[in-house]
Amino acid sequence: MPQEKHQTVLVLDFGGQYNQLIARRVRDEGVYCEMIPGSSSIERIRSIHPLGIILTGGPNSAYAPGALRCAQEIFELGVPVLGICYGMQLMTVMLGGEVRSAQLKEYGQTDITLSPCALFDGIETQTRCWMSHTDQAAKLPDGFRAIASTATCPIAAIADEEKKFYGVQFHPEVQHTLYGIEMLHNFLYKICGLSGDWSMPQYVDETVAALRSKIGSGRVLCALSGGVDSSVCAALLHRAVGKQLTCVFLDIGLLRKDEPEQVERLFREKFDMNLLCIDASEQFLAALQGVSEPERKRKIIGKQFIRAFEREAKKIGAVDYLAQGTIYPDVIESGSGSAATIKSHHNVGGLPDVIEFKEIIEPLRNLFKDEVRRLGMELGLPEEMVWRQPFPGPGLAVRIIGEITKEKLAILKQADAIFREEVATAGLARDVNQYFAVLTDMRSVGVMGDERTYDYTVALRAVNTVDFMTVDWARLPYELLARASARIVNEVPSVNRVVYDITTKPPATIEWE
Ligand code: XMP
Repeated sequence: MPQEKHQTVLVLDFGGQYNQLIARRVRDEGVYCEMIPGSSSIERIRSIHPLGIILTGGPNSAYAPGALRCAQEIFELGVPVLGICYGMQLMTVMLGGEVRSAQLKEYGQTDITLSPCALFDGIETQTRCWMSHTDQAAKLPDGFRAIASTATCPIAAIADEEKKFYGVQFHPEVQHTLYGIEMLHNFLYKICGLSGDWSMPQYVDETVAALRSKIGSGRVLCALSGGVDSSVCAALLHRAVGKQLTCVFLDIGLLRKDEPEQVERLFREKFDMNLLCIDASEQFLAALQGVSEPERKRKIIGKQFIRAFEREAKKIGAVDYLAQGTIYPDVIESGSGSAATIKSHHNVGGLPDVIEFKEIIEPLRNLFKDEVRRLGMELGLPEEMVWRQPFPGPGLAVRIIGEITKEKLAILKQADAIFREEVATAGLARDVNQYFAVLTDMRSVGVMGDERTYDYTVALRAVNTVDFMTVDWARLPYELLARASARIVNEVPSVNRVVYDITTKPPATIEWE
């Protein structure tokens, strides 16, 4: 893969909630990085040839029995190491220092005093940082000195400048650390001595060349969902191999208003791709008839997907490569154990079982979501497509509570389109991470003119989040909510009430089903 030529920083993951953010920040600074489990073997670490290593935060106590550790040999590789939060404590313990539980948890934005050193070069000595910890370094390992302190944490950062080992108790990757980005920049450029050789135009050139040489004159098949990842994947492959690529777009009848038409216009007309559009909406709706239990809906949709592709597979015949828009967060092996299944997720997966092919190619598997978007822009995809918010595989099925009918789908599509239009008009389309309408199964009494109505309630949901694992509801302006509500009850038949969902995740999820 092309990135092997790039200078690489390795992020060792100990399960902290901001870990992917660390890796993204490093890439934003123009340095390629990979994130692997903190406990990875030294052989695996060596094979990546890192020029710098970052140890992330994590929920453990570094001194607890069985606490996650990294290979001791990383400290003998001769490369700079930056430990963040748990990473700093781990480095302290592994190099012979001591970590203890502090009396009080230090949490939130905190005043900090920095000492002059390469990590803090060019940064004010009195500043603010983001803390989230209960443990503190109590004794430094040999060769280290304290380089920062707060009112309650005398050793808030440490350094062995000779060996280029640094540790910070706070989180430079979150924006509440005022000069966090500058600190990461200093680590990468001044301490690791990197030159910043990771950029999107260059990535496109290299990946296109690599794809051409791999695919040769072979045939490639790519399933388009209309979402960002599969669209960018298709555009990249099209740039590389043109008409050797065939895209299949399955209209399951559960997409947003006008979406199938937009996909067809873009890929068939603008990109001149070989595109197979399959209208499977009737089959999907028939299979979902009478079903109201959320998990059953999801399972049925997953099964229908495979069936629809099975039917098409015969027409398509054998291909050499099956392309998938898998992105980096999907392939990062998590540092922690398996979580409970809250919802059975469904994507444009399942194809490997029904299509005859030699090999899967995943040209986005090294990219984070925002990099995929930048790549999409680079490839000439329209902004509305590239900045499209996430959309669940089962589509509007999980936004209609209870049984799905054509009437309900029409109501939801219209209400959702109005809400999205109003968010865009307010200039907030990129500031709110996900926003949509839900058609509840509840009817209530209203009055329209002089008439009593008994109609549906539409719920609006808008959330802000970094990782979609925890979210806060968006504080949308009242005027925007007022306009959306007025337009929905006036323009959408059978809706007489609009409510706004003000729950965080957890305990609620983003989607209602
Ligand atoms: P929840 O509802 O679990 O959603 O808080 C988290 C994020 O995942 C999206 N989502 C899905 N995405 N297939 C997908 O590709 C699915 O089955 C699916 N279900 C939920 C959801 O829109 C949100 O962004």
